[in-house]
Amino acid sequence: MPVIQSLRALEILDSRGRPTVQATCALSDGATATVSVPSGRSTGTAEALELRDGDPRRYGGLGCRKAVENVNRVIAPALLDAQIADQPDLDERLLDLDDTPNKSRLGANAILAASLVFARAHARQRGVPLYRHFADLLGIEPKLPGLTINLFSGGKHAEGQVAIQDVLIAPQTATIADGLAMMYAIYQAAAVLIKEKYGMRALTADEGGLAPPALDDETLLADAVAAIERAGYRPGEDAKLALDVASSHFYRDGAYYLQGQILSGGEMVDLLLDWSRRYPLVSIEDGLAEEDWLHWSALCLRMEGTRVLGDDLLCTNPARIRRAIEMKAANALLLKVNQIGTLSEAAAAYRLARSDGWDVVISARSGETEDNWLADLAVGWAGDYIKVGSITQSERLAKYNRLLEIEEERTSFPHLTGIGS
Ligand code: PGA
Ligand code: ZN
Repeated sequence: MPVIQSLRALEILDSRGRPTVQATCALSDGATATVSVPSGRSTGTAEALELRDGDPRRYGGLGCRKAVENVNRVIAPALLDAQIADQPDLDERLLDLDDTPNKSRLGANAILAASLVFARAHARQRGVPLYRHFADLLGIEPKLPGLTINLFSGGKHAEGQVAIQDVLIAPQTATIADGLAMMYAIYQAAAVLIKEKYGMRALTADEGGLAPPALDDETLLADAVAAIERAGYRPGEDAKLALDVASSHFYRDGAYYLQGQILSGGEMVDLLLDWSRRYPLVSIEDGLAEEDWLHWSALCLRMEGTRVLGDDLLCTNPARIRRAIEMKAANALLLKVNQIGTLSEAAAAYRLARSDGWDVVISARSGETEDNWLADLAVGWAGDYIKVGSITQSERLAKYNRLLEIEEERTSFPHLTGIGS
């Protein structure tokens, strides 16, 4: 049984230069691990609380010293020398220490750092790859996920002209390696296309997607199709699209402010259905606002072929997922562990979603670090897709490069991982 010998946290910086929490843990048998936690910007209101210092003179109030102190002075002393049976036991102790509905006492960033670092140290103690350990937590077999990779971005991640947040490419390749090579060609083609069409080099957004000055939202979809063709691939066959509309951020008083228009919920549903018929979309994420439940149900009822994917709607929160199942409001879960705060609660969200036949997309945040545990989670929890951002920034590539390693390990060294290819 693992015994925690030391646990320390440190304030480090994420891909936007904002503070976040890193934790390091040693178990009594000598296994050690370090993890860092990500941070969102386009957040759902039902997310667990990310504790920030609030001191405007330091990082504009975004410092994480309080969260770090909570790991070092509250969580670590409570866990030191305790025999931890397993991940649920550890996470239960963390929840008891916090004892608030949204983790506002210790902070979801502090709690997740402790939850994840224990998982990585425990995997090392067991001598298994992290993805195998994650799979064992659920009692399932690992599987490499499909890729959804940011091509174009708008919304809160780009401060651009368009309201929708991401148009992603979903390469329909048999391997991660082939998918990334295809994405490189499509990304380069898109960069040239933008230069020709808009007369300027496209700036990049928080997750590395191109942020062209398109005139309206649908143009991003059309440009993505054109980029696939220009790269020599067939849209809908070689590469499909995915969309993160992130519509809570342009929803006010029951209306959607999009494409220079003010749309009712019903009109928004019609628009999304129209896009799903005219573009090869595998999924539409947050097509409707996080509290517009009735229109989510209307969309889900009428949508065919394209997954109705909930991010801000669900916040990886089992109670919200249960409601969505009852209301038939979604049929796919975007899973972000830091939205809920512990691995065990994310596992409960996952199980619930799978129990109703949903797809699960394992997702990074817009503020990421060079840590790569998310790739192991996507494989270990057999995500249908992984969503990490573009292919141009190291905090994203840490995850893609880890997927390449796992792919190689699975095909070349199945005896090492006990998986088989
Ligand atoms: P966030 O955005 O990490 O900024 O919340 C990602 C998303 O909306 O999927
Ligand atoms: Zn989203």
